[in-house]
Amino acid sequence: MIKIEPIFSIPLIQANWEDSKNHNKKISDWCLQYEKDNPPTSEKINRFPGSYNYYSDMFVKDENRLDMINQPEFKEFSHFLIQTLKEVNDTIFGQHLKHMQMMRWNISNSWFSINRKGSWHRAHTHGSSIWSVVYYPKSSESGGEIIFTNSLGSYQEHWPYFTRAKSNNEQYLTNEIIINPKEGDLIMFPGYLVHSVDTYNGDEDRICLSFNINGE
Ligand SMILES: [Fe+2]
Repeated sequence: MIKIEPIFSIPLIQANWEDSKNHNKKISDWCLQYEKDNPPTSEKINRFPGSYNYYSDMFVKDENRLDMINQPEFKEFSHFLIQTLKEVNDTIFGQHLKHMQMMRWNISNSWFSINRKGSWHRAHTHGSSIWSVVYYPKSSESGGEIIFTNSLGSYQEHWPYFTRAKSNNEQYLTNEIIINPKEGDLIMFPGYLVHSVDTYNGDEDRICLSFNINGE
């Protein structure tokens, strides 16, 4: 008998916020207004080549508590985020890890970006964050795919005729998972997972909210 199994699995969570249509516009409008009120500096544009309008830590105040996303426009979204986090933590870490259940989860940093035609983001990680989250209140699905890479390597790297996988069905061959997020999608992954963003080609603004989440 032969046994073949995947090892070293990495959790990648995809969720779609059912109520997103009722809230995405006010969230997007808030981001666009913030941009108007706080025009990008050349320092921030240079720091993140190809990306536009990147601002850190405006969603949280005081104690960085997860339930303290302080803008009223984000109230319903924060409920969805907390609910998703609870469900994911129960599944991934399990009830038997009692100390995880007692943890106080918080947002260690947060930002949003407005991507315009031609923007992209190089491969990077979010360091030691337990979870990194991206939410898309506005997206035209014209490029701008988020690409997750297994830094352990793969057959694909050594045998180039294995093309990029569209799903995890080719998990034994590829070291890339490509996701083209649509409006209302939330993606959650461990901070150590390498990811990049392909060039965005849409004419409309594309907005994403990002959070690094940790427990203490
Ligand atoms: Fe990132």
